[in-house]
Amino acid sequence: PIDEKVEALLAKMTLEEKVGQMAQVTLDVITKGKNEYVSDEPLQLDMALVRKALVDYKLGSVLNTANNRARTVEKWHEIISQLQEVATKETRLKIPVIYGIDAIHGTTYTAGATFFPQQIAQAATWNRALVKRGAEICAYETRASSIPWNFSPVLDLGRDARFPRLWETFGEDVYLTSELGKQMVDGYEGEGNEVKNPYRVASTIKHFLGYQVTQSGKDRTPAFIPELELRERHIPAFKAAIDAGARSVMINSGLINGIPVHADYTILTKLLKEELGFKGVAVTDWKDIDNLYERDKVASSPKEAVKLAINAGIDMSMIPYNFKFCDYLIALVKEGEVPMSRIDDAVRRILTLKFELGLFETPVTNYKDYPEFGSKAFEQSAYQAASEAITLLKNNNSVLPLQKNAKILVTGPNANSMRALNGGWSYSWQGERVNEFAGKYNTILEALQQKGGKDNITFVQGVAYKDDGKYWEEKDVDIEAAVKAAAKVDYIILCAGENSYTEKPGDLHDLTLSENQLALAKALIKTGKPVILVLNEGRPRLISSIEKELQGVIQSYLPGNFGGDAIADVLYGNVNPSGKLPYTYPMYANTLVTYDHKPSEEQNKMQGVYDYESDFAVQYPFGFGLSYTTFQYSDLQLSKTTLSPAEKVTISLTVKNTGAREGKEVVQLFISDLYASVTPDVKRLRGFEKISLKSGESKKVSFTIAARDIAFVAKDLRWTVEKGDYEVNVGTLKSKFTLSEGKTF
Ligand code: IFM
Repeated sequence: PIDEKVEALLAKMTLEEKVGQMAQVTLDVITKGKNEYVSDEPLQLDMALVRKALVDYKLGSVLNTANNRARTVEKWHEIISQLQEVATKETRLKIPVIYGIDAIHGTTYTAGATFFPQQIAQAATWNRALVKRGAEICAYETRASSIPWNFSPVLDLGRDARFPRLWETFGEDVYLTSELGKQMVDGYEGEGNEVKNPYRVASTIKHFLGYQVTQSGKDRTPAFIPELELRERHIPAFKAAIDAGARSVMINSGLINGIPVHADYTILTKLLKEELGFKGVAVTDWKDIDNLYERDKVASSPKEAVKLAINAGIDMSMIPYNFKFCDYLIALVKEGEVPMSRIDDAVRRILTLKFELGLFETPVTNYKDYPEFGSKAFEQSAYQAASEAITLLKNNNSVLPLQKNAKILVTGPNANSMRALNGGWSYSWQGERVNEFAGKYNTILEALQQKGGKDNITFVQGVAYKDDGKYWEEKDVDIEAAVKAAAKVDYIILCAGENSYTEKPGDLHDLTLSENQLALAKALIKTGKPVILVLNEGRPRLISSIEKELQGVIQSYLPGNFGGDAIADVLYGNVNPSGKLPYTYPMYANTLVTYDHKPSEEQNKMQGVYDYESDFAVQYPFGFGLSYTTFQYSDLQLSKTTLSPAEKVTISLTVKNTGAREGKEVVQLFISDLYASVTPDVKRLRGFEKISLKSGESKKVSFTIAARDIAFVAKDLRWTVEKGDYEVNVGTLKSKFTLSEGKTF
């Protein structure tokens, strides 16, 4: 058994060997040559530095890709073999290194791997099986690259459209995030103990906890989250993933209620390890132990920062640039400032992970054993995910699908960019290198040319992104040229949105679509030709100043390498759109309110006193998305209308495809607790199913709901149901049931 192996190894280890296991450096630290952010130097390890790290400092882990370059599977194999040779032959205890990477939408640091849509787009599919399949493929290709540990999925809630990394989430809802997060963990790790299987990787659920709800909306700035809200919304998706077996957790770089999470014993030990029963490895985010001293000022020296973090419950430090962490931690243990029991607990977790992954037997995999790497079948899954993500938000007078021989102007900064389709963490951190490797995939323009015929498509970019500058900067603004070209066409496809970015460099100045893009849209609208806006963006950019004049609107999110094909297929009607928004699309900058808000966000509307836009004004609601067919919901039935907390209610209904073509529909179950001792949210998503229906076909859909499924966190911070009435909403149908008594769980 693994426990016994771990204990036997731990018993042989010196303090220095234990501390080394708790440290992770970035590959840049042990490679030759200059380590600029983006460099063209070929990657080669500096074996003297490798030995310094692995033999002298006895380090247990390495992450990242030096020079921000994609590697081939062969190159990864070479690098990781060299590292493991040193770790398993030249160190006293021969413990293999564990290598970690951000393969967050496919194995995006290996050339030729399959790139899926980013998580926000995967959420828009509302398709559990597709999300799981994407993670399985990513696990296979990551292991083919000899890497066993993935820093994914993100289980932060994307509840604030201003936050730069919203697109790395499954959107604003805790239920959707919990359901899809569990699928992703199962896809990466396999169910049960399959992670040892050479086609699986360890997942990392991140960023524990409450990372994306900062007060300023900027990355790594303070968040203030009452415990009731933490428990109600931010913990459940992590709990579901931990229960599904997630092997590691990465910690939120920021502060919650004034305390840096990396130094918070209550969150890391009491909550994560004790209450949630997390048995895996808690790894820091980038340089975050140093940040306790350098940025957050809770430690007055770098050494004190190490003490705070390790005593709070951190198991591994993403150092990432130097080895001082080891020196400080060794000294702290010798001085009695960090107990040996804490070190042993951390090392036990790390060694367990290495044994579970089979790294002692197979420290490096052979890419030749992975014949499906980059296969057509894998690409088909990525295309499928992209096509099910695309969300049709407006279709005035059925302007879409386009006629096959229509003359079209394709314009906008996102029309011809693989970088924009993929977003960040794609070949390079900010995604700027995607275009270099893109040849084999289609941009939106290329896909439209292929499907609609080159002669029917005119391309004038109108506005371009500065690919070598800051992500939000634009250049070559030539609106007149686009307007001129519009004179000769039947339709205008305006591909707008954002360029790729992530983390701090992605902090937004303004949520509104850029001035240049709005100016382009307005000028095109003035031509009188129907304008269809294709959004390609990591968040909802405000478009209220142009929306009323648009004939069609499509949200494609960040759909990945096959996004261009999927968008063109939706535009031409080869694919019937079935994506639904995983967030509320706000109308104004001052109405950033999620769908699961308190009734007072709608008080003007409730009291009929002002224009409705003065409170909860949305451009498009959470869960919204149109189809080229129509669905009719009927026959909503509840198995019981009064139930006790020990009973369950089955809610069923019939959905019929009443249109002329086959389509997929996401049936969403919302339940509202009508009165409660903590003001209830107006409604909460409590179930969903994606079904496929042929024209004229009907299907029955059922949800089984237990009292725990509709519970809320009460004033005493416990999950509770109270007796009273609950309203059920599915599509346009409504019903009610009564809970006869309350219960605390
Ligand atoms: O995994 C990431 C994290 O999401 C953001 N900071 C860096 C980490 C490692 O690359």
